Amino acid sequence: MSASPSAIQSVLVENRVIEPPPALVQQARISGMQDYEALRTEADRDFEGFWARQARENLHWTRDFTRVLDESNAPFYQWFDDGELNASANCLDRHMGTPAEHKTAIIFEADDGQVITYTYRELLTRVSQFANALKSHGVNKGDRVLIYMPMGVEGVVAMQACARIGATHSVVFGGFSAKAVQERIVDAQAVAVVTANYQLRGGKELPLKAIVDDGLALGGCECVKNVFVFQRTPTACNMVAGRDKTFDEAMQGQSSECAPTPVGAEHPLFILYTSGSTGKPKGVQHSTGGYLLWAKMTMQWSFDLKPEDVFWCTADIGWVTGHSYVAYGPLAAGGTQIIFEGIPTYPNAGRFWQMIERHKCTIFYTAPTAIRSLIKAADSNEAVHPKNWDLSSLRILGSVGEPINPEAWMWYYRNVGGERCPIVDTWWQTETGGHIINPLPGATPMVPGSCTLPLPGIYTAVVDETGNEMPDGSGGMLVIQRPWPSMIRTIWNDPERFKKTYFPEEMRGAYLAGDGAVRDKATGYFRVTGRIDDVLNVSGHRMGTMEIESALVAKSDIVAEAAVVGRPDDLTGEAICAFVVLKRPRPTGDEAKQIAKELRDWVAKEIGPIAKPKDIRFGDNLPKTRSGKIMRRLLRSLAKGESITQDTSTLENPAILDQLAENN
Ligand code: WTA
Repeated sequence: MSASPSAIQSVLVENRVIEPPPALVQQARISGMQDYEALRTEADRDFEGFWARQARENLHWTRDFTRVLDESNAPFYQWFDDGELNASANCLDRHMGTPAEHKTAIIFEADDGQVITYTYRELLTRVSQFANALKSHGVNKGDRVLIYMPMGVEGVVAMQACARIGATHSVVFGGFSAKAVQERIVDAQAVAVVTANYQLRGGKELPLKAIVDDGLALGGCECVKNVFVFQRTPTACNMVAGRDKTFDEAMQGQSSECAPTPVGAEHPLFILYTSGSTGKPKGVQHSTGGYLLWAKMTMQWSFDLKPEDVFWCTADIGWVTGHSYVAYGPLAAGGTQIIFEGIPTYPNAGRFWQMIERHKCTIFYTAPTAIRSLIKAADSNEAVHPKNWDLSSLRILGSVGEPINPEAWMWYYRNVGGERCPIVDTWWQTETGGHIINPLPGATPMVPGSCTLPLPGIYTAVVDETGNEMPDGSGGMLVIQRPWPSMIRTIWNDPERFKKTYFPEEMRGAYLAGDGAVRDKATGYFRVTGRIDDVLNVSGHRMGTMEIESALVAKSDIVAEAAVVGRPDDLTGEAICAFVVLKRPRPTGDEAKQIAKELRDWVAKEIGPIAKPKDIRFGDNLPKTRSGKIMRRLLRSLAKGESITQDTSTLENPAILDQLAENN
């Protein structure tokens, strides 16, 4: 069935209910709603007993825990805190001597279509060698290592190697700028950087090492003693003697055995920087035990992962989805997974479908923004429509990162899943570590556009500003009422900000997610409507409006003031829209175009290309109240192209609205 052009637009009301396919229900790990209810009841009855059972059944502990949940210093919750384990041993060593030892752990498909596979045994050897290389270069338990790598096996090897020796990794997405790399190195006080000379994306060779060099040169990075460089392409890159070494040099002569270092369950496995409403990106700190437990359990619950499955999560390891559902979850669960280096539109927009056919993928997990762009491509070119490939291997589909509009959901369901595969729409965040609200593929009846119900052991609600629960059917703020094992532990270096952001007093102990949601009157299903703070979601990537504003005003030779808002976009979910006041008269025509380009390039340099504003409008001023506060809700309306219907009587300078409504 071919899609209508409207398939990428939002439809607000959705009443279709789609039952999971009976064949899947029959053999699913959680089979039918009665299984789901039974797990929920078990958690209700004995919360700690439920989690203790899961932790013992799913993970291998070198020292058993005696405490399950320590709430004495809430909201700094501790889980299984006197237990000891190693995350890498739980992902790799535990499969040795089992049928999984020689099974394919990773099918890597490169940008140019070349394929390399690794068994669990081979992966363990690589990880151990790199772990030994890190150790022999002075990286110790508790040290931080910054990873700035292309998508590929070596990035996962680097993460696992850190986990193996108890070093805390901080992965930075390869699209972030030198300045972003430097800020994260300084905040985390990283002792080493793992990078590659270049990355390959859509046939293009893009520098990584040069960006690390630029970042280190920005200052404050004396903490970095070693830079490990993976030679992704034959092209040479600058190497600083004494500091930089290639992977081959570092691993030469290293033993292929490295005993995993046991760490406490609360030991920080990683820090991952993400955008918030104010200030600089915050380092979300995750634990080892609780985090890994949930990464594994959700592979089994949300994706019903079985030994024969071929799982493919398209997320980059630079985002949390690539942590939980590439680097850790699939390995802990003993699955076979595909790792893809390139982009969905190269060499053409049939790449995903071709890869599903080629590798007989059974579980496919991607973002709505990718689906929408592939719908658009298929609409304009029959040759890249999924119907041209054999997708019959698929049994489960997943979605993550932003709300999926019902029409895109239906297209995905029909044209990719052949009306056979449930769609697991997973709502979660960097801070939650793993899935929180989503249907179970063999149990939950689905409603397109709704992430349905919280997983067993997770307690979610919709509340008002004072923390009181909203009646079903009314919108409010999404909260998680009880702690869960994979929750954020703190913001690195900033426990106060952690408390204020996620556990504000009004919420009376509940975790405040920062998203708006409604619970359906009839089904009790959750529908997440989007961020309620100053965080934008552009193509599933989190961007703080303040971050982009700070970047713009940092161009202080020309910019006097800037305000950034989001506006809905059919393809990217939200688009970044900047209103800028210059230190010179308001430009128009070609001059405006040229300055807008200059500012976009500047933001790309300050933060990364993903933060480039799509629209830039210039004004003599911004709409402000008499007390000088910028009225963002008016800017949001202007960005959407709406006529202003709101009350503007408190505005100091109402005439500015007409000017800003024009595109320069
Ligand atoms: C949004 C990505 C609706 C939400 C895993 C959240 C979603 C933010 C969904 C977290 C979904 C993620 N439906 N919205 N299924 N999944 N979001 O930290 O606004 O990059 O707060 O984690 O993405 O983005 P983050």
